[in-house]
Amino acid sequence: MTALASSLGEAVKAAFAAEGVDESLVRVTPSDRPDLADFQSNTALAAAKALKLNPRELAQKVAARLDGHADLKAVEVAGPGFLNLTVSDTALAARAAEVGADELTGASAVASPRRVVIDFAGPNVAKPMHVGHLRSSIIGESLKRLFRFRGDTVWGDAHFGDWGFQMGLLIVACADEGLGAPFLAEGDGPFPEETPVTLEDLERLYPAAAARAKEDPEFRDRARKATAELQGGRPGYRALWRHFVAVSRTALEREFGALGVTFDLWNGESDADPLIPDMVADLKARGLAEFDQGAWIIRVAEEGDKRELPPLLLVSSEGSAMYGTTDLATILQRRREQDFDLVLYCVDQRQSDHFEQVFRAAYKAGYATPGQLEHAANGTMNGADGKPFKTRAGGVLKLHDLITQAKDKARERLREAELGQDLSPEAFEDIAHKVAVAALKFADLSNSRTTSYVFDLDRFMSFEGKTGPYLLYQAVRIKSLLRRAEGERAAAGDIRITEPAERDLALTLDAFDQAAADAYERRGPHLVAEHAYRLAQAFSKFYAACPVMAAPDAGTRASRLALSRATLDQLETALDLLGIATPERM
Ligand code: ARG
Repeated sequence: MTALASSLGEAVKAAFAAEGVDESLVRVTPSDRPDLADFQSNTALAAAKALKLNPRELAQKVAARLDGHADLKAVEVAGPGFLNLTVSDTALAARAAEVGADELTGASAVASPRRVVIDFAGPNVAKPMHVGHLRSSIIGESLKRLFRFRGDTVWGDAHFGDWGFQMGLLIVACADEGLGAPFLAEGDGPFPEETPVTLEDLERLYPAAAARAKEDPEFRDRARKATAELQGGRPGYRALWRHFVAVSRTALEREFGALGVTFDLWNGESDADPLIPDMVADLKARGLAEFDQGAWIIRVAEEGDKRELPPLLLVSSEGSAMYGTTDLATILQRRREQDFDLVLYCVDQRQSDHFEQVFRAAYKAGYATPGQLEHAANGTMNGADGKPFKTRAGGVLKLHDLITQAKDKARERLREAELGQDLSPEAFEDIAHKVAVAALKFADLSNSRTTSYVFDLDRFMSFEGKTGPYLLYQAVRIKSLLRRAEGERAAAGDIRITEPAERDLALTLDAFDQAAADAYERRGPHLVAEHAYRLAQAFSKFYAACPVMAAPDAGTRASRLALSRATLDQLETALDLLGIATPERM
């Protein structure tokens, strides 16, 4: 609830209670008709029947009781019994001042903080990051910030894909190229410290090996064998693998860094591996794992399922642990290490069945309690054809190339708009980078998490409309206003609300609390994005209607400066929750 709605709520509750309505039925919400009122209550319509009253009559009685309340400028009954509430200017000014002084810029923390692991991005060793990883990375980063902001203890975990068949593929591909010979020989070292493979090697070897394995059964078998030997602990393979992991991770961290995405943990799938033998034994001993056609499975289908969910494959007929096995063991690992209340998996919705299998298996086994595991599924970024975005040549677009492309476009746009032209080349680069990231992230986060959207760099990068660059531009405009005020020694002071645009701005500032809480509850950063946009628009209208430096008197100027300051703080907070940094100037 917005703070104003909740403080008004108390008064409205008391008024209804005096008419015999149970307090728990009373609701106050932002008005559907902002042109008529700030808030509304539809409670009379719902409550009148039980009292055998006409709703309009009940609403009128309540309105009479509220009449004259200090926080209210007007109370009106509309239609069949809606209560329209207009906040007094003083209450609005007091709330805006509160927002301005508040560390959370008007938002509130959760009542009982939790321990939350956010599993996101899910990059893999050697496989290049592509736009398929984009949404998970951007949304996960934002949820990590939002949960932390509201007071939870949060670990962002990359859940590094460092353990599967791709490792065996790389080992045999290295062997065939004569790369890393000391590691490939039998025996157990000592192995050189020097990296025998470069990132370029990995990026070249992996796709070739993956393609070859599809056509060449002999190669595939060798890769399988190498995977098994690696997992079985063959020292040279382990040492070589550590190089793959280190080289990949360094490159990935650089790429994520460019996108403003960071992790608290880089736990790999391999880290959960040591827990697998005991876990499998436990599941077998308790009869939860069943032997079926040579494999061990856990049945997870439930009565009433709309469609049959296949069992989770625990141990394949070749004796290997599978993707689901690793995820199950990772739950045990996280229970030990983070003692979580919640694990949020920010992963593509195409993996929904996988997570449903894992969660049900984990609940059955008592590894987590229902509700503690949650798949925050995301849609994809699509091409104009409605399919996951591909490059013109038909390949998957690498994240690195996407960022480069976005930066090129950002420079071009800045030049066209004649922005940042008087800055040093370094400062200009920094701005171009911020604009590029803001464009990509805001385009992503302004869509709801589950919908897919169409890639359109031109639109994302526009300085007009609902875009990242527009929001940065608004923030920078306020910064430059505040700098000017400082230069002229004009200080902020008590907030007074008189103009309609000031009312609007103050009401919008008040609404952040609700937006942040809803975004948190629904794992929906788009609600924060929406709020940031509304706030920028409200400021823009205010700035056009209410001169600040040229205000009619010093008191008004001080008030408007305080409103501007509160707006900037909240706007930057909201953008920060989206993972977007604002430059000082443009
Ligand atoms: N590495 C996986 C992939 O690229 C994503 C991992 C998602 N997280 C998880 N706990 N399974 O598809």
